[in-house]
Amino acid sequence: MRKNISQCIDINSKYCPCLLAETNQCISCSHLKGEITCNCNWSGVCILYEQHWQHKKIQHSEEVTKTRREEQVEFSIKQQIGQNTYILEFDVTSELAEELKRIGSFVFVRCPGDPQFFYFPINIMKVTGNTLQIGIESIGPKSIKILADNNNKLVVRGPYYNGVLGGPWIDNMTNGNIILVAGGIGQAPAFPLAAKLMSNSNEVMAMLAPGKVGKVFIDKELGEMGAQVYRVSSLRQFGMPMLREWFALKPDLIVSAGPDEQHYGVIAAMQAAGVNIPMVATNNATMCCGEGICGSCLKKTRDNKSIRMCKQQTDFSNIIED
Ligand code: FES
Repeated sequence: MRKNISQCIDINSKYCPCLLAETNQCISCSHLKGEITCNCNWSGVCILYEQHWQHKKIQHSEEVTKTRREEQVEFSIKQQIGQNTYILEFDVTSELAEELKRIGSFVFVRCPGDPQFFYFPINIMKVTGNTLQIGIESIGPKSIKILADNNNKLVVRGPYYNGVLGGPWIDNMTNGNIILVAGGIGQAPAFPLAAKLMSNSNEVMAMLAPGKVGKVFIDKELGEMGAQVYRVSSLRQFGMPMLREWFALKPDLIVSAGPDEQHYGVIAAMQAAGVNIPMVATNNATMCCGEGICGSCLKKTRDNKSIRMCKQQTDFSNIIED
């Protein structure tokens, strides 16, 4: 599983080979980044072969899916959580809904009349049939327009998958003891992670804090699904010291859903307790294109590389703090 932790999130999907392969910038294939020898971590697909085959398809004018789906939807406000925080609900096509069931899924959203550069990323909280739920904070020029009084429409672009770092741990962990820490709006992406873990017979202890949103809003549902839920008024003040006690229960995995400061707090608590277990963290990188092209999500890693956080999996602890 460690191998999967650093590979491109789109490998083995219909979105591979992508625009990066076309421009000799592929994350996974050494040939498709200009090297002479083959040096890939074989993942069951040869991207070079696929790229070659795709060119043939284009020549014969067959349809090739390279870019993501865009759909205009009408949303309703399912719940107002805080002064500027809402759970929105809307229907998409069954194809897009199905693709967004994958762990780490997110979409870009904007108002229908706005230019393309208004798109911003939002994690998926729930998929039920064709209906999606997302948690959104209206705090900047892009999101404020969506929640304006006269608007109930959105354009959704997706699916994208790198919303969580360490996603393979969520997919593959069974019969384990899991600590989940979620604060503020981070509770929205925490929900599908907890649901997946519990569906795989894992025991989940969830520590939830209101954060800037001012409310714990997934506690009831997680409790009904079988998680042990603990509410704390402040993760920094009370949660992190409590976490050190929880480590005595020998967890197999820790999941942190919230801002990067929270992830660093969890890492510090692990170090203080001498605990070395895998960690899953929500991906908070600034993203504009989601396709590995614009560079807004680039981060430096401890092994002196630059990685595109919209495309590449890594351990959160491998990223150098800004
Ligand atoms: S968001 Fe554009 S390169 Fe990652």
